Amino acid sequence: MVPFDFQLRTRIVFGPDTIDRLGELASELGARRVVMVSDPGVIAVGHAQRGLDALQRAGIASHLFEGVHENPTTDDVDRGVAFAKRHDPELLVGLGGGSSIDCAKGINFLYSNGGEMKDYWGVGKALKPMLPMIAAPTTAGTGSETQSFALISDAKTHFKMACGDKKASCRIALLDPKLTVTQPPRVTALTGIDAIAHALETYVTKRRNPVSRLYSREAWRLLAGNFGRVLDNPDDLDARAAMQLGASCAGVAIENSMLGATHALANPLTATYGIVHGEAVGLMLPHVIRFNGEKCDLWYRELLEASSDNNGMPKPNSGPEGLADFVASLVAKAGMATRLPERQVEREKLPELAADAATQWTGTFNPREVDESELLRLYERAF
Ligand SMILES: [Fe+2]
Repeated sequence: MVPFDFQLRTRIVFGPDTIDRLGELASELGARRVVMVSDPGVIAVGHAQRGLDALQRAGIASHLFEGVHENPTTDDVDRGVAFAKRHDPELLVGLGGGSSIDCAKGINFLYSNGGEMKDYWGVGKALKPMLPMIAAPTTAGTGSETQSFALISDAKTHFKMACGDKKASCRIALLDPKLTVTQPPRVTALTGIDAIAHALETYVTKRRNPVSRLYSREAWRLLAGNFGRVLDNPDDLDARAAMQLGASCAGVAIENSMLGATHALANPLTATYGIVHGEAVGLMLPHVIRFNGEKCDLWYRELLEASSDNNGMPKPNSGPEGLADFVASLVAKAGMATRLPERQVEREKLPELAADAATQWTGTFNPREVDESELLRLYERAF
């Protein structure tokens, strides 16, 4: 029996064109001045402007911080804090992919509590109240909109710090599936695989509990049945909506169940070889499913049972092997690498990568113990 403490901290407002309600929702939270955090790609397709227009209609003064880069660094956050200090916001809006939402959370930590980003590395380090935040995700991936962690990289060392605090949770996740239709195909692929990994990893961790399982299972059902559809048909709004909801459900699951060995193995690939997160996760996920399947066979079958109403899904009796093969087929269909050498990973580097993976916090939640030698074997399976 695993004790748990579950509270959904984020109100979820879902539907096509809900971005036009941003002003009304910000008003409900009492905001008269807003800083919106976004990135140049999202601004270029007009989503940020739609949000700003909605804020203006509600009589809210808003200022756009457009300096977010992919995998935001402490430099991005510092610039955002300086920007916020000039405009004295009462609410922050993160509008964009996980990078924009995480950067807005990072800005919130420093703006509300002072200090440096590394002071908040870990869980629950903010002592003062934080500004309310609304997230409007334009990708279906990280689930940052429904969990309390910000991933911010140290600008000098590139070390990724996971900074989590319940006060950093968004007050509202504004899910407008139309905002996700403009994702470039590669972003759809990378973020989709990441979300699928979140659903699968959270379902089997040591921290999983009856409520997190509900979210993991529904996330898996939505994502597994619709990922192929959005790859084939990027304008399929129903499939986009299912992906967006699936990614947000997976975010709730992460908050309550943490992640596992796939993410522990993926992070060193990103740090050492610059392999983007979704691709690194896709390279390792099938091997971790097979490895965990020796202990969690029944749990993976439960997931296959949940998704069995979708066309083309593996049957529950195909077990972890069938699930791993299916995930590998999705990775290949998405045009991502399925073997480490395809991304120039060298065999002689594997022990070093495994040593790094063994230091990743997320690996401690994996249902099967993973020490350095086990992690090395998992890299070898992906070679
Ligand atoms: Fe991830």
